[in-house]
Amino acid sequence: MLTRCVLGASHVLLLVLCLSAAEDFDWTRNDRGSFYYGTFPTGFSWGAGSSAYQTEGAWDKDGKGMSIWDVFSHKKGKIFLNDTGDSSCEGYYKVKDDISLMKELKLNHYRFSVSWPRIMPTGIKSDHVNEKGIKYYDDLINLLLENKITPIVTLYHWDLPQVLQEKYGGWQNISMVNYFNDFASLCFERFGNRVKYWITFNNPWSVAVEGYETGEHAPGLRLKGTGAYKAAHHIIKAHAKVWHTYDTQWRNKQKGLVGISLAADWGEPVDITNQKDIEAAERYVQFYLGWFATPIFHGDYPQVMKDYIGKKSAQQGLGSSRLPTFSSQEKSYIKGTCDFLGIGHFTTRYITQKNFPSNRGNSYFTDRDLAELVDPRWPDPGSEWLYSVPWGFRRLLNFIKTQYGNPMIYVTENGVSEKMLCTELCDDWRIQYLKDYINEMLKAIKDGVNVKGYTAWSLLDKFEWDEGYSERFGLYYVDFRNKNKPRYPKASVQYYKRIISSNGFPNQREVENWKRKATETCSSSNQLLAAG
Ligand SMILES: *[C@@H]1O[C@H](CO)[C@@H](O)[C@H](O)[C@H]1NC(C)=O
Ligand SMILES: *[C@@H]1O[C@H](CO)[C@@H](O)[C@H](O)[C@H]1NC(C)=O
Repeated sequence: MLTRCVLGASHVLLLVLCLSAAEDFDWTRNDRGSFYYGTFPTGFSWGAGSSAYQTEGAWDKDGKGMSIWDVFSHKKGKIFLNDTGDSSCEGYYKVKDDISLMKELKLNHYRFSVSWPRIMPTGIKSDHVNEKGIKYYDDLINLLLENKITPIVTLYHWDLPQVLQEKYGGWQNISMVNYFNDFASLCFERFGNRVKYWITFNNPWSVAVEGYETGEHAPGLRLKGTGAYKAAHHIIKAHAKVWHTYDTQWRNKQKGLVGISLAADWGEPVDITNQKDIEAAERYVQFYLGWFATPIFHGDYPQVMKDYIGKKSAQQGLGSSRLPTFSSQEKSYIKGTCDFLGIGHFTTRYITQKNFPSNRGNSYFTDRDLAELVDPRWPDPGSEWLYSVPWGFRRLLNFIKTQYGNPMIYVTENGVSEKMLCTELCDDWRIQYLKDYINEMLKAIKDGVNVKGYTAWSLLDKFEWDEGYSERFGLYYVDFRNKNKPRYPKASVQYYKRIISSNGFPNQREVENWKRKATETCSSSNQLLAAG
């Protein structure tokens, strides 16, 4: 891939032609190597994350409007055990407690999201702005800053105001672009004097595919082969509009950054010497990360998406592609609307070529013509889909560097869950996962990838969408049976804290010591939990 040339002239009229190296991702070399002892660059930011619907509770308090997740989770049969986020961690009432947990970890940043219907109950600014909702986020932001924790704020973490879904069809309707821009503008206006890191959307892949294609997530629509592409198209436009709003109206005064947080599992060719497998793996990554990242960095969808969806639409006898198109004005408007790239990464798949004939119906999944495989030796401690494959993280980060011109990256989500009603606070599998994934990120930085921060997912156990409370991602355990929702540290709190205070992995002896110490202290937490 050839990136733009930069012409520079020095005062001695020496013309320097800088051809930025045409860099391509090397699919054929996967250097796994051993554990790397070393530290992160000075100023590297360590954090933990959450989202509004998953942790706040208080779903109908202080004037909050309903979101699509309130409505979806209240329908029977959508969520594991018919659970809801109605009270969840009661985070709305526990700001002080939770900030003391962050202090214990010595976090540099905390990533959370603003619930749109909490501050605009119908989603529409001219209807009503809810000052009580604004005050909740004001207090949270102020308390974070008092404790020297940088807020990283997500504007859309899936909880669209229900009114916008019901009346207008949610992200199927282009009018969401303006409604979202009004909401974002209000956030810039009210919080932007203190918030300097904004994430427009969290994981739009999931919004589009699980919300509008498979229906596993709110709003639960199953518009196979079209719904996800249309939702994504509008989300990309909404992202670009909000970035431009910030750029033209707020950046001078507030001096913050606006990015997006994209989810991306890594796809590794089953056989790295087989060209078909390499192409299939690249398609997997382009349909996942590239779907959003390529328009935002280069102005248009990945060529391979245009080719495959176009070809399959023609085979179906459609007059145009199911993948919408951007006009040339839209392309230049969208291109470059990213001050930093947020990355949510959890796992990896092996990928091989597999044809799906069009006459059997089309979907986002069959459009890709590939099959996903896993290695049965990969550890799989929690969520069914979440295999621990640390080297995939380094591969993904290097891919991003080569594809999008080495952008500034914040890892906005990375972590592992445990299954079901597990009350084990000695989470050595999470310690292992964090240690190995963070180490691969360190190797990627040595490779030259521009990673500036890392966000462990998540601070607390919380409502895990359609899985209810059956999957726990937290560093802190939450006892949901108890009305007060008490928090207990898992062993990984101790371990992550050491990584943070050492800014990496100083040497083998010390790092091995951390694990021993962390697992020593957790048995007393186990006893506390059993007694509580
Ligand atoms: C959830 O609701 C559905 C529909 O009412 C019901 O069939 C199912 O048994 C419920 N599940 C639980 C665990 O209560
Ligand atoms: C899209 O939203 C607008 C309101 O902004 C509404 O007038 C229009 O009917 C909606 N379109 C559909 C198809 O729902």
